[in-house]
Amino acid sequence: MKPLFPSFLFAAAALALAAAASTGADPGISFEYHRYDELRKALVSVWLQCPTITRIYTIGESFEGRELLVLEMSDNPGTHEPGEPEFKYIANMHGNEAVGRELVIYLAQYLCNQYQQGNDTIIELIHNTRIHLMPSMNPDGFEKAASQPGEIKDWFVGRSNAQGVDLNRNFPDLDRIVYINEREGGANNHLLQNMKKAVDENTKLAPETKAVIHWIMDIPFVLSANLHGGDVVANYPYDETRSESAHEYSASPDDVMFKSLARAYSMFNPVMSDPDRPPCRKNDDDSSFKDGITNGGAWYSVPGGMQDFNYLSSNCFEITLELSCVKFPNEEMLKNYWEQNRDSLVNYIEQTHRGVKGFVRDLQGSPISNATISVEGIDHDITTAKDGDYWRLLAPGNYKVAASAPGFLTVIKKVAVPYSPATRVDFELESLMERKEEEREELMDWWKMMSETLNF
Ligand SMILES: *[C@@H]1O[C@H](CO)[C@@H](O)[C@H](O)[C@H]1NC(C)=O
Ligand SMILES: *[C@@H]1O[C@H](CO)[C@@H](O)[C@H](O)[C@H]1NC(C)=O
Ligand SMILES: [Zn+2]
Repeated sequence: MKPLFPSFLFAAAALALAAAASTGADPGISFEYHRYDELRKALVSVWLQCPTITRIYTIGESFEGRELLVLEMSDNPGTHEPGEPEFKYIANMHGNEAVGRELVIYLAQYLCNQYQQGNDTIIELIHNTRIHLMPSMNPDGFEKAASQPGEIKDWFVGRSNAQGVDLNRNFPDLDRIVYINEREGGANNHLLQNMKKAVDENTKLAPETKAVIHWIMDIPFVLSANLHGGDVVANYPYDETRSESAHEYSASPDDVMFKSLARAYSMFNPVMSDPDRPPCRKNDDDSSFKDGITNGGAWYSVPGGMQDFNYLSSNCFEITLELSCVKFPNEEMLKNYWEQNRDSLVNYIEQTHRGVKGFVRDLQGSPISNATISVEGIDHDITTAKDGDYWRLLAPGNYKVAASAPGFLTVIKKVAVPYSPATRVDFELESLMERKEEEREELMDWWKMMSETLNF
């Protein structure tokens, strides 16, 4: 690993930083496209500049063997801290939708710069959130799109992975399962539970899809966004319609919160939230857009998408961000897109800290993992992570929240939830075994008393 850290890079970073401190600019952000090797280098340079709060890892490889790289930012990179929520951005799953890929690289650099410059907002965010940034889920498609000659890129070249698979149609279609369960009863969450082996053996799933499925199942992500291009809007679940019609509002049980999350992105983006913004193309049907947000199904139905998969297979809430009318714009436009999206990108990460959070433990204080957290009136449960910690995103309001686990008595609490921060609510569950023992003793006492009174 040694050759990766030549010391002149440290020096260069320090110089750039000193220069920026006087101008207030962002050192190290180069507003240009990063091909695969350059993307690697850009992430490594952020890591070198901010080694105590970053880590680079890979979740697997693309079909052509490129790494699916992630830059993690946290005060304890590499570990899940009990109680600390996890967040992710995934960009460029359509390889020719290039703006998101670049914005995620710039965001990494920006967060590192601001952290070093002592920006309290960013320091607090990084100390209280484990942030995972994946600039490209489809590095093969990007290389193909970027290799086209000329400035104008074809609308479709590089969209799919190298096998020709559209990754945003390749996820297990859990919507069809939940729509049946809604009518006939059945699980409302974690619909891929205990099916990891089936995923691995499924030959229809692209390697990029499999890698991301494992990532989603392995890390207790709370919130995520998936960055695309070709339009300008924040799109929220469900993406696939119930009736299989092409356009139909398809509310998820968390419709209110999802709208609020999408709005938390669009409101800081002056182009996305502009009510007078003309459609990207003359014949586009933008009739479902309002305040820069849209329900996925109301716009157009997407079966097998990643957004709904996150929500139905894990605790993670994901929305889809369309960031630019043009999928692969000229390089000179990139700075502009960064400025339009910078505050939205940061504000959206902060949404991780909303709703209710806490721990579920037994009376001895041991964590209960995989306990169910359910909210009255919302037919979508979430579960506790390994340390009994949970995060339940909720819009402002008054709720009844229940914690339950097999073998324990359910506890219900009333909770008032403000816009933010998240309200801390811990649960202590009494095991049914303990309860039975208590009841048996009570019965014995009663029997003893009765016998004595009646002088048996
Ligand atoms: C600190 O970061 C926030 C969020 O990106 C930003 O709005 C603010 O302007 C930054 N403060 C300074 C002093 O740069
Ligand atoms: C979590 O709990 C559910 C139901 O309570 C169960 O079906 C599932 O197997 C559990 N998962 C794990 C990993 O223990
Ligand atoms: Zn796309």
